[in-house]
Amino acid sequence: MSENQATEERVLPLLVRPSAEGDVPAMLAIYEHHIRQGEPDLDAQFAMPEPLHDEDLKRRRKNMLRRRLPHLVAERGNMVVGYAYAVPFRKRPAYRYAVKHSIYVHPGHLHSGVGRALLPALVEACAEAGYRQMFAYVDASNVASRSLHEAFGFRLVGVLEGVGLKFGRWTDSLLLQRPLGAGADSPPDYSRTT
Ligand SMILES: CC(C)(COP(=O)(O)OP(=O)(O)OC[C@H]1O[C@@H](n2cnc3c(N)ncnc32)[C@H](O)[C@@H]1OP(=O)(O)O)[C@@H](O)C(=O)NCCC(=O)NCCS
Repeated sequence: MSENQATEERVLPLLVRPSAEGDVPAMLAIYEHHIRQGEPDLDAQFAMPEPLHDEDLKRRRKNMLRRRLPHLVAERGNMVVGYAYAVPFRKRPAYRYAVKHSIYVHPGHLHSGVGRALLPALVEACAEAGYRQMFAYVDASNVASRSLHEAFGFRLVGVLEGVGLKFGRWTDSLLLQRPLGAGADSPPDYSRTT
């Protein structure tokens, strides 16, 4: 792809939609780029014993959808340029109204509005599914992610010190949180999430 072509593509309109199984290879390519580049992200904070494969991602995606957890992609000019999904915050039933999420943007489309399109769509989908609290773990050096989350109502609620090891250095993680819907101000709709 030429530089001009990449620049032209960055201004095409974005479509955010639920992911489909056919999106998995594109999502995997985006994920692997960030892992290889050592971008500060949640999974990269821990040594991964095995690379992630298509089948792993397909299985994870199906598990999430079965549990009504949103799994979204952003498309630009028929190309997947980012994805975002939520998983349970903790497995124990008491935490069933809380989710944590991940968001990844294609390296050729960073800082061109993809995160700004995906994150509020994910927040809305999680609220719509009945979840009440949403969390993100963000590496302390990840200015882009922290700014993006703060722009959409997440606030810093904790610092996990020295929790990651990257390139031989201990790193801190920030815990960011935002309420969904009525948050903790009213009981949940018990029929919505399991
Ligand atoms: C973090 C990430 C999702 C942001 O997505 P993005 O599409 O690049 O962000 P956007 O273009 O929508 O920008 C939204 C806001 O994020 C912040 N931001 C994005 N890139 C930034 C950068 N390079 N430096 C500082 N702030 C940045 C800004 O506040 C920006 O608002 P602005 O456009 O008014 O300046 C993206 O950088 C990414 O995928 N990074 C690698 C993986 C990762 O770290 N995921 C998050 C794990 S918690």
